[in-house]
Amino acid sequence: MAAQRIFNFSAGPAILPPEVFERAAAAVRELGGDGHAKGAPGIGLSLLEISHRSQDFGMIHDRAVELVHEVLGVPKTHQVLLLQGGATQQFAMVPMNFAAPGSTTAYVDTGAWSTKAIKESQAVAAGGGRGHETAVLASSKDTGYDHIPALPEHLPAKAATAYLHVTSNNTIFGTEYEAMPAVDLPLVVDASSNIGSRPMGLERATIGYAGAQKNLGPSGVTLVWLERSWLEREVPAGVPNILRYASHAAKGGLLNTPNTFGVLVLGLVLEWLRDKGGVAGMAERNQAKADALYTVLDNSDLFAPHVPKAHASSRSRMNVTWTLGGAAEDGREALTKRFLAEAGAAGFSGIKGHRSVGGCRASIYNAFPLEGVTALCEFMTEFERRA
Ligand SMILES: Cc1ncc(COP(=O)(O)O)c(C=O)c1O
Repeated sequence: MAAQRIFNFSAGPAILPPEVFERAAAAVRELGGDGHAKGAPGIGLSLLEISHRSQDFGMIHDRAVELVHEVLGVPKTHQVLLLQGGATQQFAMVPMNFAAPGSTTAYVDTGAWSTKAIKESQAVAAGGGRGHETAVLASSKDTGYDHIPALPEHLPAKAATAYLHVTSNNTIFGTEYEAMPAVDLPLVVDASSNIGSRPMGLERATIGYAGAQKNLGPSGVTLVWLERSWLEREVPAGVPNILRYASHAAKGGLLNTPNTFGVLVLGLVLEWLRDKGGVAGMAERNQAKADALYTVLDNSDLFAPHVPKAHASSRSRMNVTWTLGGAAEDGREALTKRFLAEAGAAGFSGIKGHRSVGGCRASIYNAFPLEGVTALCEFMTEFERRA
């Protein structure tokens, strides 16, 4: 009997295309002679045992960087770096490098992740930075982070503002910017959970970053892109070399040993993305998946979307979040438990909400198939009928 099909709704590390697993596995067994896994004769060595200074890895690295420009549309005015330390390290590196003396770093608070970024800006200032202020320009905390808050009409003066930082998609609450804010300030974007999912201008941010483990590859590699002119800026002497963008850029992105496997897989995912119609091609598929789930939630008396229909423009196409219980407050927890247990038994993996908020979450990144969403929608409808 065939094994039960499991649909992986994990928020990250997350599902990747089966073709990518195949090609990555081949490269682990033996790397193709063109520095790649496809077609070319093998080099007699695994990707995992070759030097990051070797010509073979150099080609893999350069190709991944080139694909970031080509497939994600990051302009050549920007330096692309494939770093370690996750998006979390970027929360600190950005203010360490770019919070100029006496300036203000501005943030929009859409919940965990942006709050972590805000805290790191404050920590950098407290820990021997150059005396910058951290300002939160907008927050949706008061309503449980159920929408993307609007920016105030009057923004701080450009001359005194180091940058405006936004989280383009909040993975935990399931909120997403419809479009990047049109502001006359340098924009820094944490695009970890919706990079490459639809055309929305992420690639044109002054600085952008994304942990790869959702839409781009495995954990342990972080895509960073930043305007080359910013690499010229003066950085305080106390900032260690490894935390300076300019030091990484000066060494062509290979300042120290990168996550060689992660870089290879990132390149393979971008090739897959390109072959599937690129970011624009993904947009339609991702919208159809999200629409199907929100339709079930909006028509249910049992399931309640975390982001209400009134805030539809803030709804994430990548992470759909909801709670159970309908009008009945009591019994909500037990019902949620039952739903998650039955969903797990039916082959829907990873739909438990983030530990900080509970409830349920379906993460439906680029590689997640529509048929898995359709199956979950049917399961939810049937569960409600029985509940
Ligand atoms: C939007 C967002 N930012 C930052 C992070 C933290 O990423 P990392 O674990 O790569 O540091 C996550 C992790 O899920 C995330 O979803």
